[in-house]
Amino acid sequence: MSNEGPFSDEGLPRALWWDDAAGALRLIDQTLLPDRCEVIACATEHAVAEAIRALRVRGAPAIGVAAAYGLALAARALIAEARGIDGTAALERLRDDATSLRATRPTAVNLAWALERMLAVADHYLAEGGSVRELPDALLAEAGAIAAEDAAACAAMGRLGAELIADGDTLLTHCNAGALATAGMGTALAPIYTAHRAGKRLHVYVDETRPVLQGARLTAWELARAGVPITLITDNMAAHFMKRGGVRAVFVGADRIAANGDTANKIGTYGLALLAHAHAVPFYVVAPRSTVDLARPDGDAIPIEERAPDEVTTIRGVRVAPEGVRVANPAFDVTPARYISAILTESGIARPPYAESLRTVAEMRTPSRAVEVAL
Ligand code: MRU
Repeated sequence: MSNEGPFSDEGLPRALWWDDAAGALRLIDQTLLPDRCEVIACATEHAVAEAIRALRVRGAPAIGVAAAYGLALAARALIAEARGIDGTAALERLRDDATSLRATRPTAVNLAWALERMLAVADHYLAEGGSVRELPDALLAEAGAIAAEDAAACAAMGRLGAELIADGDTLLTHCNAGALATAGMGTALAPIYTAHRAGKRLHVYVDETRPVLQGARLTAWELARAGVPITLITDNMAAHFMKRGGVRAVFVGADRIAANGDTANKIGTYGLALLAHAHAVPFYVVAPRSTVDLARPDGDAIPIEERAPDEVTTIRGVRVAPEGVRVANPAFDVTPARYISAILTESGIARPPYAESLRTVAEMRTPSRAVEVAL
């Protein structure tokens, strides 16, 4: 990634990028959108961890990329402050830093996946006799590779998913699985952008997505900027519009997909899948292979992040509930695989039953071999 600014050549927002001159990870502070599009610089792993925790950067692929850069920054700080540290000690310190970064958000597997990949690179680099002083550069290069692969995966998912969208379709999406959630053009929004650019006429219902309003604040902002016709609705309006026959398909992203296809995504996704099922509306999950966690047999094994009560009791700083009320705030829910019509990855489209089709797609290495797997 270069250091050119918060919008890509195609005009989409860039959630994050490495600024070599500043030696820092730059990211759009998403807590300020849509009022202000401000870029902040994270020059330490602590700043990256804070940004992830506070949702300045959010969305499963984007937090994976951010954490990867966070670990590279940790290596930089380590080498600067402990000159002469040996490889074993450096690796041990990096493992601790990775543990801290991993703890920032537990549900999106991309975070843990990216950190594991970074640690494996550090391990391999040192085992091959690489110099400890140059370890930060090796890790920066790997973080850059993770970001570049994510951008390529988004584009591939966009091409595959656009095939499922016809001219004149009205679609519905939940939360934000767009450019702001990735290092590229998004996951669930990638097919929408691709179909729109191909000249298909579309209309997208955007769920506002309480409690943190990723739909209203982020998805509505980025789709409208791109010229995609949208209608913002509150989450409880989806059934109404589906019943009236106004929704042709639902596209959502994912934070973690278990081996059987059960999918964790933003709270409210499960309810939406049930509504789609009741109205015979196709329900598509779009996510890169890095979101598939074959080590978890089903959705019951997926950890669900519980966030602070004030996200529920307040809206943008204004209290909307009595003081002291008891609150539940799970940030994600799990949609059972039986309500998912297909899972789109950069390597292909997995169809039910997912036990085999998802594994086949997830274990593919080359995006160019994209296939449709319906076993
Ligand atoms: O809490 P968030 O905003 O990080 O939740 C994001 C989502 O649930 C997205 O749908 C998911 O991460 C997929 S993003 C491509």
